[in-house]
Amino acid sequence: RAEDGSAAWLRYAPPPNAHQLQQYVPNKIAILNGTVTSPVFSAGKELKQGIESILHRNNATSITSHLSRTDIIIVGTLDQFTKAYGNIGSETKLEGDSFWLKYDTSLKNVYIIGADQRGALYGVFEYLRLLALGSDVSKLNVVRAPMGPIRWVNQWDNMGGDITREYGGDSIFFSNGNISQNLTRAGQFARILSSIGINSCVVNNVNANATLLSSSNIQGLARIADVFRPWGVQLSISIDFAAPQDFGGLSTYDPVDPTVVSWWDSKVKELYTAIPDMGGFLIKADSEGQAGPAQYNRTLAQGANIFADALAPFNGIVMYRAFVYNQLNESDMKADRANAAVQFFQPFDGQFRDNVVVQIKNGPIDFQVREPTSPLFGVLQKTNVAMEVEVAQEYLGQQCHLVYLPPLWKLTLDFDLQVDNKPSKVRDIISGKRFNRALGGMAAVTNVGLNSTWLGSHLAMSNLYGYGRLAWDADSSSEEIIQDWIRLTFGHDQKVIQVIQDMSMQSWPAYENYSGNLGIQTLTDILYTHFGPNPQTADGNGWGQWTRTDKYGLGMDRSVSTGTGFSGQYPPKVAKMYETFETTPDELALWFHHLNYTHKLHSGKTVIQHFYDAHYEGAQTAANFVSMWKSLDGKIDAERFEDVLERQVYQAGHSIVWRDSIVNYFYNWSGIPDTHGRVGHH
Ligand code: GCU
Repeated sequence: RAEDGSAAWLRYAPPPNAHQLQQYVPNKIAILNGTVTSPVFSAGKELKQGIESILHRNNATSITSHLSRTDIIIVGTLDQFTKAYGNIGSETKLEGDSFWLKYDTSLKNVYIIGADQRGALYGVFEYLRLLALGSDVSKLNVVRAPMGPIRWVNQWDNMGGDITREYGGDSIFFSNGNISQNLTRAGQFARILSSIGINSCVVNNVNANATLLSSSNIQGLARIADVFRPWGVQLSISIDFAAPQDFGGLSTYDPVDPTVVSWWDSKVKELYTAIPDMGGFLIKADSEGQAGPAQYNRTLAQGANIFADALAPFNGIVMYRAFVYNQLNESDMKADRANAAVQFFQPFDGQFRDNVVVQIKNGPIDFQVREPTSPLFGVLQKTNVAMEVEVAQEYLGQQCHLVYLPPLWKLTLDFDLQVDNKPSKVRDIISGKRFNRALGGMAAVTNVGLNSTWLGSHLAMSNLYGYGRLAWDADSSSEEIIQDWIRLTFGHDQKVIQVIQDMSMQSWPAYENYSGNLGIQTLTDILYTHFGPNPQTADGNGWGQWTRTDKYGLGMDRSVSTGTGFSGQYPPKVAKMYETFETTPDELALWFHHLNYTHKLHSGKTVIQHFYDAHYEGAQTAANFVSMWKSLDGKIDAERFEDVLERQVYQAGHSIVWRDSIVNYFYNWSGIPDTHGRVGHH
């Protein structure tokens, strides 16, 4: 099959056993009660197209309105299904967005039944996934429900048409300050999102531009919502906190000022008149120059609740970002940006409205190659929370390096904070289970653009796919996810599956090896590009992503007894583990402790020797990726083969640049040569 980047993993190529599946897949499809723009209608079309492609049926599958009792695929909501077919599925309980998939062996029917229309659509995508994977569908009888209701993506698109962290081309939503005329790609994107269970997309940058709220742009947003709607994707937007003043012409944006409150109320009404099913607002306030409630000495809760109250009548949601911090002075040994989120948010736990969700980055700093879990997840027990991750590989090679991220995300999802000495995995906190919250889930920063591969790299798409799978079910394993993605994207050849899986599973450890080790953070350029090695930029600035490197050692002492106190933000058992080097795992040793270069790690190596070895190992792994990929020559279409090859060659070279910059940097500081003679001997 030729490269069709826009199809992503929805290529619907026949699996090797396609002919064995034929007999279990009827060729009539009945859609219960779908209007043309409804998700259930897209579901029917998708199903027909998918089946014909996967099972090689040339136009032999038809969509019918005649509800025969046998030999038919029925797609609809549980309500409609029960009306039409009586009590066949009456024992099935379905809640928001979930679905029931069954093959009825006696009637030879397939039931794809959703709690709601979106659920039916998700059921269709799941059924097509199973067929495309060549799974046994003859005994199908499953109910699938998502981990939580929040499964969002955040595009950081600017209204000019560029994208922050743009590696996949310009915006599919905006151009020249307006919503683009041609929204074909936006509709295709919604289809892709829907196939992995994503139910809302924030279309504009968190650093929001208030002109988005002009009447003509609201009409434009309504056009985006129109192309999202058939796929069950709700449009959401980022809001500039100062919009009442910046854009509305008021003299203030104080969130408790009555004129401000009514300005937002009427803006929200205008939005929902144009887009009745809008998802809600994403808010970055009091952060990195963005306006916020602090300007008027109002609390974060007051800041969030003004929007919550305006949105509540329309069932809208406020995603309020926890990414709030101030510039700090590095000479203050107690200063620590990692402390900020808990310090800012803890006092207001319980004061946020029920339709507010605090959106917390997985780690306390900013999507570094290795961070501990944000302690805020254990602190906000009377507040809805969601975890924010980055599909955009901002600090992680910007889609020029292969870095498969589900293993990184799962580390946080599976981390047990042991709140009150009870099992408290982050995934059970964000699903709402642990603290009994109604709302929660995940959000991912994505950066799809007009590039035909969506993200600017074929292999990077496994991260978008993996994000969706984990946001639906955090139990899925990284290996299972990558295998499915490879089969759906590149086919079923065993060698192809093995090689891409191996490359993917080795990729994050490799990147960590040749960038920042032991929790010191990525060591990339943090001042401008966030790309390539630039360890010296980490220190001597107000951003607080410090390494505190000197000629004796490096690392931040974040203990309670002698450091910044960050480790004390965790519940007691976890706090105790991180308090001393002895109980801190090596991979976070320098996150929590300032260590001498000669300090012996638990592995038995010294800190400096670990840096040397890891960097050579990481660059070697990246070099291996080239030969691994080359071994697939002839097994993948030439277009994708060449495109990926070029990237792997680049990564192999750039990993040497990384390796040499970092090892020389620390050799120059420490003066300690590599025991293997690679660094510091001339
Ligand atoms: C990073 C990123 C910014 C972004 C910020 C955020 O720092 O570089 O572009 O605005 O995160 O998450 O808000």
